[in-house]
Amino acid sequence: MKIETKRLIINKFNMNDTAAWALIECDPKVRKFVNNKVLTYGEAKSYVLENIESYKSNGYGRYAVRYKSNGKLIGMCGFLNDELGIDFGYRYSRDTWGRGIGTEAAQAISDYGLTELALSSIIATVLPENIASEKILIKLGFIFDEETYFMGKLCKKYKIVN
Ligand SMILES: CC(C)(COP(=O)(O)OP(=O)(O)OC[C@H]1O[C@@H](n2cnc3c(N)ncnc32)[C@H](O)[C@@H]1OP(=O)(O)O)[C@@H](O)C(=O)NCCC(=O)NCCS
Repeated sequence: MKIETKRLIINKFNMNDTAAWALIECDPKVRKFVNNKVLTYGEAKSYVLENIESYKSNGYGRYAVRYKSNGKLIGMCGFLNDELGIDFGYRYSRDTWGRGIGTEAAQAISDYGLTELALSSIIATVLPENIASEKILIKLGFIFDEETYFMGKLCKKYKIVN
């Protein structure tokens, strides 16, 4: 799996991504709307490994998002099996925010999920204060489904159906 957009290359994580991923996940601002807990190096390594295993067992996972210009890992975007359904998620290092990167990757990966993977439906949960993330979902055509609780917090669940 390899997807190219104007500025990005999106492909599978590999274990060599661990150090760069740990650097992204140790930033409290990046994790604020996830579960508000930064990851240790060991947890970041497990995350990379879990995704590599998910590619094999599920045929998808969260994917590595890299700058096309220099190959640098800047974040992730992709799918995760969740109790609510196939969850769409993304996060990026803070230095990339506000330049359309989140939208660019999300558009490409949501298209990939609906067409190549032929997923029948995809869900996403977002905290109401995470305006940028919610805007991305709406731009992609996700529709508000219901309010739900995630980690004890009220979230908005969005859904897109194939
Ligand atoms: C949420 C996140 C992925 C957004 O990525 P991004 O590259 O900054 O997003 P974009 O530049 O594509 O912007 C998307 C939209 O949000 C708007 N936006 C960006 N930052 C914003 C902010 N801080 N407040 C309000 N709106 C914002 C943009 O103007 C754009 O709106 P538009 O569609 O009207 O033009 C990024 O901030 C991130 O990684 N956050 C930490 C992890 C996270 O919260 N993940 C999502 C969990 S549900």
